[in-house]
Amino acid sequence: MAEVNLLRHCPKTKRKLARPRSQNKANVQAAAKFEREYFDGRREEGYGGYKYDGRWVPVARDIINHFNLKPGNKILDIGCAKGFLVNDLMSVCPGLEVFGLDISRYATAHAEPEARNRIVVGTADNLPFADESFDAVISINTLHNLEGDRLKFALREIERLAPGCGYVQVDAYRTKAEREVFLGWVLTAVTFLMPNEWTDLFAEVGYTGDYNWTILDADSNWTDFNHTNRPTANKEVG
Ligand SMILES: C[S@@+](CC[C@H](N)C(=O)[O-])C[C@H]1O[C@@H](n2cnc3c(N)ncnc32)[C@H](O)[C@@H]1O
Repeated sequence: MAEVNLLRHCPKTKRKLARPRSQNKANVQAAAKFEREYFDGRREEGYGGYKYDGRWVPVARDIINHFNLKPGNKILDIGCAKGFLVNDLMSVCPGLEVFGLDISRYATAHAEPEARNRIVVGTADNLPFADESFDAVISINTLHNLEGDRLKFALREIERLAPGCGYVQVDAYRTKAEREVFLGWVLTAVTFLMPNEWTDLFAEVGYTGDYNWTILDADSNWTDFNHTNRPTANKEVG
């Protein structure tokens, strides 16, 4: 189990929001459905257009190298959305058996054509696959959308499918200021913890794979949600 940043070659986008959006209940409710509003609706409700821009190609390379994956090996992406990474894993390593799973019918219906028949609709805490059936299981910015026992089940599911060969990236904060950014900005995450709290949880459930954190930039000028300074963030949604 190690902290490793498999998204280090993913370009960071700095997009400004008009105002912290999760104070608006309607935004949160729209996002929580993980339907069109979340992916391709207004920015206040989610991504504001979840489009392929090539950013996953270097990430796919790093994942393949990290797990030493070869043609014939199997990898699962949990929370794969429209299958951008599924697609790029297949194109970077032809012959790699790549699968995706996502709770969103909208995202899977609008998935990349090459990835569509590799993706199933389902939930991270109940994976329809046999024990030890994958060489690697990854889940990027997805598991923090679960809480309590469901989150624990989801981590155990990754361990069940690929013991010691998981990678999870989840929302985290290190300072009060970073937590404030989350509270004002994040729409769907229901569990966001400090890194040591996440690693304690991993140990508790027996998750032995790798991990990394998504941490939103705290703007030092932005302490009051009602004033007009604007937060910036290095991640689209969560
Ligand atoms: C922030 S997006 C991340 C998508 C993609 N992994 C990425 O990094 O671009 C979170 C994804 O998790 C999916 N999701 C949310 N809850 C889920 C669950 N319980 N099981 C599986 N997927 C879930 C959403 O539909 C969405 O596609």
